[in-house]
Amino acid sequence: MELLKKINNSEFKDIPDLQGWVGDAKFGLHQLTQYFNKNNKYDVLEIGCGIGLLLASLKEKFPNIITQGIEPYKAGFERLKATKNLLPKSISINYLKFEDFKPNKKYDIIYSVNVFEHLLNWKLYLDKTKEWLKPNGVNVILCPNYSFPYESHFKIPILLNKKITYVFFKNKIDRFEEEKKSLGLWNSLNFIKMRNIKSYCLNNEMKFKYCNNIFNDIINRLDEDKEFQNRQNFVGFIAKNLKKLGVLKFLNKNTFHSFHPYMKIEITKKSSNEKN
Ligand SMILES: C[S@@+](CC[C@H](N)C(=O)[O-])C[C@H]1O[C@@H](n2cnc3c(N)ncnc32)[C@H](O)[C@@H]1O
Repeated sequence: MELLKKINNSEFKDIPDLQGWVGDAKFGLHQLTQYFNKNNKYDVLEIGCGIGLLLASLKEKFPNIITQGIEPYKAGFERLKATKNLLPKSISINYLKFEDFKPNKKYDIIYSVNVFEHLLNWKLYLDKTKEWLKPNGVNVILCPNYSFPYESHFKIPILLNKKITYVFFKNKIDRFEEEKKSLGLWNSLNFIKMRNIKSYCLNNEMKFKYCNNIFNDIINRLDEDKEFQNRQNFVGFIAKNLKKLGVLKFLNKNTFHSFHPYMKIEITKKSSNEKN
């Protein structure tokens, strides 16, 4: 966490959105820590790693890990480039899409944070990452769940589906993309639902697990992370009131898991004696 503190407190303060990137890396670090033990060595791959803030923070906390990242959108992170000198050189980033990545080893942990909802071919991602895992390796996916009718990048409700939502919110979506200089963001979203990932895993010899602790962790983040609170003020407002009414505990029951707004999924390979 020293690294993230240094970046947040330093001369980089004027970089737009930096607080958001740092907050996301901090959150990612918290979500991934459970998979590592300080004394063990791990081969780790992050997909869609940006400039590598999260990879660097993991390396700082678990010096024995061997980190690799994939990031196709190098130019998009140019504005963060000034912070790069603080990142250790041992973090190797491959500037390409996961579709073009050809690893020469297998991994203990493969993960991505807020990437899966942007993938053109998410089934291919599951197939490839399954191939890249060691026999006991884990693939962790953190991303929004579009079974919950809310689009968190644009902060709008989802009306039936992507097409109809666009018709209703065209002006807001176009204005947002222009203001944030993120043309193509709406098009990139695949509106992935937890149940689609689950069913694909179960039909393709992968084990699927939803880690429902993410529900409380997101609610807590809305309480503790001011920048995140500002970014997601509408959901924050709803969550706060549901919490007051005691409804959140109820929503964390099994029946509602597939409608949670954000998902943390663990995917592992089925071993040969589990195959039918
Ligand atoms: C919202 S950003 C998230 C960046 C970072 N993981 C984070 O949480 O701060 C989405 C990322 O997904 C990456 N991405 C999209 N399609 C990809 C693909 N086919 N292969 C690898 N990365 C991809 C983008 O380049 C971008 O860095």
